[in-house]
This record gives sequence, C-alpha cells and structure tokens, in this order.
Amino acid sequence: MRRVFHQALAALPTLPVVALALLPMRAAHADVASSVAGAGTTSTDGQVIYAQVCQGCHQANAKGATGAATIPALAGNPKLANAGYPIYVVLNGKGGMPWLGTMLNDTQVASVVGYVRTHFGNHYTDPVTPQDVAALRGPAPTPEK
Ligand code: HEC
Repeated sequence: MRRVFHQALAALPTLPVVALALLPMRAAHADVASSVAGAGTTSTDGQVIYAQVCQGCHQANAKGATGAATIPALAGNPKLANAGYPIYVVLNGKGGMPWLGTMLNDTQVASVVGYVRTHFGNHYTDPVTPQDVAALRGPAPTPEK
C-alpha cells in the first residue's frame, strides 16, 4: 500500500516538484528538510555530509531504524547499484524522506551519494559526478549556495 502510493507519487509529473523547489529556502515546506536534517551543510565531503544530514535518520552505521517510521538501511543496499536512484531520492525525497535538493548543491549530492555507494558494505565504485546530479535535477534552477 505504502509502496504503491510512493510509486504513484514518483510517477507524477515533475511540475509540482519544480514549483516547490522555487520556494525560498525559508518557506514552510523547505524548512521540513532543514528541521529534520539540521541546518544544512557547507561541506563537500561525502562523509561529513552524511554525518550532518543523513545520519540522524539512516544512523551512523547506515542500517536504518524502525520505530515511528521505517528508515531503510543504506548499508548493503542493492538499490544503490544504479547511482540515478539514490540521486533521485536525495533530490526529490520519497515517502518519509524529505527532499534535499534545495539544501544540497550538485557537488554535495554527488559527494554524499558517492560516499554511501562506496561505504557500509556497498562497493559501487563508478564515480558520481555533479553533472550526473545536474542531469537528474532537470531544468529547475540550482539552489543558491
Ligand atoms: C528525515 C529523515 C531522513 C533523512 C535526513 C534522510 N533520509 Fe533517506 N530515507 C528516509 C526514509 C524514511 C526513507 C524511506 C522512504 C520510503 O521509501 O518511503 C529514505 C530512503 C532513502 C533512500 C532509498 C533507499 C531504498 O532502499 O529505497 C536513499 C538512497 C536515501 N534515503 C539516502 C539518503 C541520503 C544519502 C541522505 C542524506 C543526504 C538521506 N537519505 C537523508 C529518511 C531520511
């Protein structure tokens, strides 16, 4: 049921997402991401970004958690094999995960996705570049950094 709902969400045209991305950083919706994931980060180091932005939910060992919400493990996660998937989820959010595309720039997304794909028992060594992120971000304006 949850899964079907999320697939339906993912299938929606990108227009509303683009519109939301245009909201100023301090708008209520964008603050959802900042409030759950901290005030953001200026680091471009994947490990640091993971610790500052992702770890609060996915845990230091990336094994996720269950409780009020289920946070999937990123450790040993075969869904990271195709870099496009984690890039898309980080940019646009998914279910209980906030979209972080307004918080992180292309370099930061590439760096943290590259980090999780090569740590926590994941060995996907093909590089993730800011260009890969920009391509998935589409025509929406990049956040001010
Ligand atoms: C507020 C909590 C939260 C934060 C912060 C967060 N996530 Fe998530 N993440 C989730 C939840 C919840 C899901 C499950 C979404 C769903 O499928 O309903 C998820 C799903 C994912 C997935 C998909 C996993 C799968 O098996 O489908 C990836 C990849 C991911 N997160 C990476 C990241 C990265 C990288 C960061 C940091 C840049 C991050 N997340 C920050 C809560 C969070």
